[in-house]
Amino acid sequence: MRLQKITDCETDILELAGLGAGPFNLSLAALLDSQPTISTRFFEKKATFGWHPGLMLPGAHMQTSCLKDLVTAVQPTSPWSFISFLVNKGRFYSFLSTEKMVISRTEFVEYLGWVATNLGSVTFDTEIREVSFTDHHFVLKSDHQSFKARNLCLGTGKSPYTPQCTRRWLGPHCFHAGSLMTQDVDLANKRVAVIGGGQTGAEVFLNCLRGQWGKVTQVNWVSRRAGFEPLDESPFTNEYFTPGYVSQFLSLHGDKKERIVNYQKLASDGITPAYLLELYRELYDRTYLGNGDVSWQLLPDRTLADMSLTSTGYYDLRLFNALSECDEQLAADVVILCTGFQNALPEYLEPIREQLTLDQQNRFKLSPSFKVAWDGPEDRRIYAVNAGLHSHGIVEPQLSLTAWRSATIINDLMNDDVFPVNHPPGFIHWQSNTDFLPNGKGENG
Ligand SMILES: Cc1cc2nc3c(=O)[nH]c(=O)nc-3n(C[C@H](O)[C@H](O)[C@H](O)COP(=O)(O)OP(=O)(O)OC[C@H]3O[C@@H](n4cnc5c(N)ncnc54)[C@H](O)[C@@H]3O)c2cc1C
Ligand SMILES: NC(=O)c1ccc[n+]([C@@H]2O[C@H](COP(=O)([O-])OP(=O)(O)OC[C@H]3O[C@@H](n4cnc5c(N)ncnc54)[C@H](OP(=O)(O)O)[C@@H]3O)[C@@H](O)[C@H]2O)c1
Repeated sequence: MRLQKITDCETDILELAGLGAGPFNLSLAALLDSQPTISTRFFEKKATFGWHPGLMLPGAHMQTSCLKDLVTAVQPTSPWSFISFLVNKGRFYSFLSTEKMVISRTEFVEYLGWVATNLGSVTFDTEIREVSFTDHHFVLKSDHQSFKARNLCLGTGKSPYTPQCTRRWLGPHCFHAGSLMTQDVDLANKRVAVIGGGQTGAEVFLNCLRGQWGKVTQVNWVSRRAGFEPLDESPFTNEYFTPGYVSQFLSLHGDKKERIVNYQKLASDGITPAYLLELYRELYDRTYLGNGDVSWQLLPDRTLADMSLTSTGYYDLRLFNALSECDEQLAADVVILCTGFQNALPEYLEPIREQLTLDQQNRFKLSPSFKVAWDGPEDRRIYAVNAGLHSHGIVEPQLSLTAWRSATIINDLMNDDVFPVNHPPGFIHWQSNTDFLPNGKGENG
C-alpha cells in the first residue's frame, strides 16, 4: 500500500520529520527525494553543512569505499550519488585517473554538503529542543518555531565521551578532540598528551608531531588498547558490513550480541593500516634520518586513571600500565582526549521519555526496521539511526550500510517494497539455518 500524498498546505503536518542532518539522516532525505508522496523535512542545528568539523585534520581519509555513499547501494540511478556529484562538478575523468576508491574526508564532506544544500528538504540553523506528542502527531520545537509530524527519524548522532577523571579539568587545556578546530589551539612549546588509541588518536598524534598547531616540545600517545591496532578491512571481515550478516545477527540474543560486538571492535574502530604505515615511516625518519626534534613516546596498554593540576600549572596524569600492573606518571601542559563517542538519550525526548521502552542502559528497543518501541499509536513511528549497536551490531555506527538502512526505514514507513533490501546471504555459513549463495560451493554445494 502506498501512502497518499500529504502536502504541508493540506494539513501542515509532515509525514516524516528528521532530527539532525548528518550522513545517516541525509541518506534518508536523499532517497526520499524520489518519493514525492511523502512530505519530509530534516532539521539541522548547524548553520551550514559540516561533518565532525573539529576533526577535519590534514591528510585524513575515509575508512570506507566511495561507493558506500548515501544512496548507491539501493538506488544507483539516484541524482545524489557520489558519482553523480563527480559528474556535476566536472571531475569524473580526473577522478578515475586517481584510481581511488577511498577518498579524502575533505572530498566526502564536499559531497555530503552538495547533497544537503541542493536537496531542498534540509533546514539548517534549527536545533530541535523538544519533542512532544499531542492530537495524534509529534510536535517539534526549536527556539523560534514549532513543526508537526506524523513520524520521526532521530539522527542526531553521538556525543563525545570523556573519562570521568578528566571532567573537572575540561577547558582550553584539556578537551575532547572533536572540538579541536574550534579550540583555536596553540600547542607551541607545549608538552601534549594524546589519550586514546583509535583513528582519532592516530590523526591527532601525527598532526601534533608535524606541528599542525605549532611546534610542540613533546607529544605522548596513550592507548588503553594493547597496541596501536589496525582496522581489519580484510574481505571476510567485511562480510560483517552486509545486509545478510545483519539479518542473521538480529536473530541472536542480547548477551551473545554484546560478546560478538566486542570481539569485532577492530573491524570498526581500528586504525587504517595505510595511516599506521605513514605514521611509522614518519617516526623512522625522525629517529634515524634526523628529520625531527620533537620528543615523543608511544604508550600502549595504559589507562588514564586520574589527573590533577600541579601548583606550577601543568597536568599530572596517572596512567595504569596493564602490562606492568603499576601506575605511572606523565606530565602534560595540554591533554587532548581522543576517547571516542557515546550514545546518550537525547534531551529533546524528555516530554515523551515515559512512553519509550528503554533498557537498563537507557537504550532504545529497536525493531529490525529501526523503529523505536514506544506506547504511542502504531501508525505513529519513531525511527532511530546510529542508535542500535546493541541490536543491529557493529555496522550500526558506520557508513557501510547507510543506504540500506535508509531504504529499510522507507519501506517500513511506506509499507511497501520501494527499495531492494533483501540481499542473498554472503559466502559465509554463519548459522545452522543460514542459506548458501545459490552457486556457492559449501558443504551443500
Ligand atoms: C572523525 C570521524 C570520521 C569518521 N569516518 C568514518 C568513515 O570513514 N567510515 C565510516 O564508516 N564511519 C566513519 N565514522 C563513523 C560514522 O560514520 C560517523 O560518526 C557518522 O557521522 C555518523 O552519522 P550520523 O548521521 O549518525 O551522526 P552525525 O554525523 O553526528 O550527525 C548528527 C547531526 O545531528 C545534528 N544535531 C544534533 N542534535 C541536534 C538537534 N537537537 N537538532 C537538530 N540537529 C541536531 C548535528 O549537528 C549533526 O550534524 C567517522 C566518525 C568520526 C568521528
Ligand atoms: N579518518 C577517518 O575516517 C576517521 C577519523 C576519526 C575517527 N574515525 C572513526 O570514528 C569512530 C570513533 O573513533 P575515535 O578514535 O574517535 O574513537 P574510538 O575508536 O572509540 O577510540 C577511543 C579510544 O580511547 C580509548 N580510551 C577511552 N578511555 C580511555 C582512558 N581512560 N584511558 C586511555 N584510553 C582510553 C579507547 O580504549 P578502548 O578501545 O580500550 O575502549 C579507545 O582506544 C571509529 O569508528 C573510527 O574508526 C574515522
